[in-house]
Amino acid sequence: MRILVTSDLHVESSGVEPIRRLVAGMSRENPDLVVLAGDLGNPAWIFEQCLTCFLRVGAPVAVLPGNHDIWATADESSQELYGEILPEMTRSMGFHWLEDEALALEEGIGICGSIGWYDYSARAPELNQSDEELIALKPRFAMDAVKVDWELTDKEFAGQCRERIVGQAQSLQQDPRIERIVAVTHVPIFDNQIDRRPGNMAWAQGNAYFGHLTIGEQLLPFSKLTHVISGHTHVGMNGVVERPAGPVATAVVSSDYGRPRWITIDL
Ligand SMILES: [Fe+2]
Ligand SMILES: [Fe+2]
Repeated sequence: MRILVTSDLHVESSGVEPIRRLVAGMSRENPDLVVLAGDLGNPAWIFEQCLTCFLRVGAPVAVLPGNHDIWATADESSQELYGEILPEMTRSMGFHWLEDEALALEEGIGICGSIGWYDYSARAPELNQSDEELIALKPRFAMDAVKVDWELTDKEFAGQCRERIVGQAQSLQQDPRIERIVAVTHVPIFDNQIDRRPGNMAWAQGNAYFGHLTIGEQLLPFSKLTHVISGHTHVGMNGVVERPAGPVATAVVSSDYGRPRWITIDL
């Protein structure tokens, strides 16, 4: 069973050529499932261009949105993009919208997923920043501050995302046909997926918008969880979280603008 996870394809910046090459490379690996972990392209017609490339990958495709994908335009609000436009577009191509529904594969593998968002739990501990400071600083680190046009706070939306993915994981854990769970999120959910640079003040301040560690804490008790793959930071990382029920392998996809990458999981 081979699952390939890619993320942060940013077709708005690279165009489709690098994605076509990526898809050709992924297809040669004969995957059983391909997961796209968000930041595929904005606005929506570019997101669609990205999805169209994956019609040729030769495997079922599961899709998550990233923060860039829900940036509002004159015609499309963030809520419309997140709740209607992107899910409908994904389903119309025959792909699975993982944000709303876990995937239970016949081979006994369950996939849960979410954009994840950030709840400031990845903030740099040495800076002692309050939520109010982080809200005020956000426009300097994350364009989401001006481009996401809903009224929800980061903590409110992140809480909704957390509730959904934990619910997905719970139903997979309880499903006797499922032997192991793979979680895919746009935003990293474990500290070992976060690139910490304590000596670099600007970098350390930005960490608050690059993780949702509360999801990781709440997924860890699910004994079937064996793999966590995320995107968003564009900094490739590989690690292991040890626990009594057995290790969880963690990774971040190393894609950057114009240089898409994928991670292979063989189960
Ligand atoms: Fe990205
Ligand atoms: Fe992102």
